[in-house]
Amino acid sequence: MTSRLDGPLKVTGQAKYGADNNLPGMVYGYLVLSTTARGEIESMDVTAAKSAPGVLAVYTPFDKVDLTTPSSMLGETWVPLQNREVSYYGQPIGLVVADSFERARDAAALVETGYQEAPAKTSFEDGIAEAEVAPDREDLEILDPDAGLESIADAFEASPVVVDQTYATATQNHAAMEPHSAVAAWEGDELTLHTPNQGSHMVAADVATALGVDASQVRVVNPYVGGAFGGKGKTSTPAFLASAVSRALGRPVKVVLTREQVFTATAGRASTRQRVALGADREGRLIAVRHDSWCSTDAARSFVEPTSHGTSLEWYATPNLAVSQRIVPLNVPPTTFMRAPGEAPGSFALESAIDELAIELEMDPIELRKRNNSTAPPGKDLQWSSKHLDECFTVGSQRFGWANRSPQGRTEGDWQVGMGVAVAMFPALRSPATVGIELRADGTAVVSTSGADPGTGLLTVMSTIGAEALDLPEERITPQLGDSALPPGGLSGGSTATASVGTAIQLAGVAAVDELTALASGPGAPFEGKDVTYAHGELFADGETIAFGDLLRRLGRESVSVSGSSAPGEELTKHSFSSFGAQFVEVKVHRWTREIRVSRMLGVFDCGRIINDKLATSQLQGGMIWGLSAALHEAMEVEGSGRVANGDFASYLLPVNADIGEVGVEFVKYPDTLHNSVGAKGLGEIGTVGVAAAVANAVCNATGVRVRHIPITIENLL
Ligand code: MOS
Repeated sequence: MTSRLDGPLKVTGQAKYGADNNLPGMVYGYLVLSTTARGEIESMDVTAAKSAPGVLAVYTPFDKVDLTTPSSMLGETWVPLQNREVSYYGQPIGLVVADSFERARDAAALVETGYQEAPAKTSFEDGIAEAEVAPDREDLEILDPDAGLESIADAFEASPVVVDQTYATATQNHAAMEPHSAVAAWEGDELTLHTPNQGSHMVAADVATALGVDASQVRVVNPYVGGAFGGKGKTSTPAFLASAVSRALGRPVKVVLTREQVFTATAGRASTRQRVALGADREGRLIAVRHDSWCSTDAARSFVEPTSHGTSLEWYATPNLAVSQRIVPLNVPPTTFMRAPGEAPGSFALESAIDELAIELEMDPIELRKRNNSTAPPGKDLQWSSKHLDECFTVGSQRFGWANRSPQGRTEGDWQVGMGVAVAMFPALRSPATVGIELRADGTAVVSTSGADPGTGLLTVMSTIGAEALDLPEERITPQLGDSALPPGGLSGGSTATASVGTAIQLAGVAAVDELTALASGPGAPFEGKDVTYAHGELFADGETIAFGDLLRRLGRESVSVSGSSAPGEELTKHSFSSFGAQFVEVKVHRWTREIRVSRMLGVFDCGRIINDKLATSQLQGGMIWGLSAALHEAMEVEGSGRVANGDFASYLLPVNADIGEVGVEFVKYPDTLHNSVGAKGLGEIGTVGVAAAVANAVCNATGVRVRHIPITIENLL
């Protein structure tokens, strides 16, 4: 199995991340952030900052660089400094440029800002009273046509057993190791921008729109990304400002966010409140599911965390279903996509409620889930293209020792031990992608696309699928990505990259073979006029063989280039698509201190074909660890003033090695070629889904205490 190709470069410090680029004459920008949650900036005194040592310029809404708001498939992107309105504490309101990072930072501290303050809404709890209907998320009610029901309430009336509870999840920051940054340099009318992202051609398009130039004038480069998770999906404030200021000053500009700035000058996961009601018969068959959600969002209402639509809509077979989604606009930092947007917090509520129903029914929680397994999403005619969730539970039960679980948990010395499970699910999606293949006269091939490898292993996967498509050993494949000058490669988001890019590689591979056979049989070629076939890098005709590199040399060609493009299509009218998984968690809660330790986790996943077990395993382990982190550690705390009280790694808790026990990952491997020709269903996000519920369910099994919010802390178990 191929190890990660970029691994040695990353662990030996040779991988050059965006901010590692240093250019002659480069200057440094440091962001000034707002210190009030809502109001209008009345004044910004920059006199002291401008005369501080090494300072070249200070940009503010009073003395700004002009930027136009771009709009892409991820929605409208906010651009900084364009007006004096402040809508959250920590909003970018200025940029100080100096000849060193330190001097820019020192001068930024000298900027005096005066505000006309306005009352700010910062509390999610208070804001719920004024919740709004979420844009593009209609309330939905599906009723059993044969039951003669007036509304979902009737279905609950008719249910012998009902669980109806409210759950809450906290605001999170992506906390990627690599902070957001940009190094911008103009050469004439052409901009080169080094900035971490999840799809370089999309950032290039955004920046070009913002600057009013043609997309062909902007080249965005990011061969290595130190974690993104949705937090680098949108073009960042450093990218916009470094590009514009570099043009204004005629010098390369570097802007790097500090760790503290990452907590407010980017976007994070919404907090949610979710009410889940489940009605069932005594055998545990669901009669009705209701999921009402509220999520926080920024004042611009820029993102909806779709917990109810993304989760209950697809999870279980039920004849009656109602979902609603409300947003709670607040004066807090923006929210955006974060690993498994919707499903991660949504599964905490739904999968906790299912566990509560199992307890109510005195039924094994795996058995309850199996009884309600769906063959198609409720209310849809389209069956799942492949679903092996039951097998995930069966395989997981055996390996995890689920049979040893008692409904009352057990004790081990001073520890109360419990086990919990949850379903994991994330839709299998594809995005349009184009891949180029260049066959070279030295017998090697370059496989390239503009998309990003934010640590997921896409580069390595491209090499493997490229080798397969060209029937060559992997050593002869050079994968390239992370450069908007390459063919447009989709977004590394939504767990789509392998299916999207992989399919395009296969199509490009077919085009490459067609091109080679045509060349080999063309006029003046070695096999002129003959039937030519291709295998393992060679062309065959009439018992003769020529390697493709030799063919190119014979024809005086250095290389041949082809491309392949794929996009989601007809399959969407035939099936529903999703990856599935079963999460198992064992926790130990200390009898006296109430400390919670997760001793073992196991995830068994149905993600279609697994291209590379090693990479897939580490991707899913990372996701599961994040789920544990959401369950026990992570929460951004916003003070009444709107200031984030724990915006640094000292106080925003993330798990360390000592917090993580055994993390097992297993696959049931059923390639899903109804979804795409590669057979991969996607596994970037599903790892985190369900884990928080499995932890809460295990805590309940161990202690008898049901905690309906995350993170779960010691205080909740006293
Ligand atoms: Mo993901 S939240 O699509 O990186």
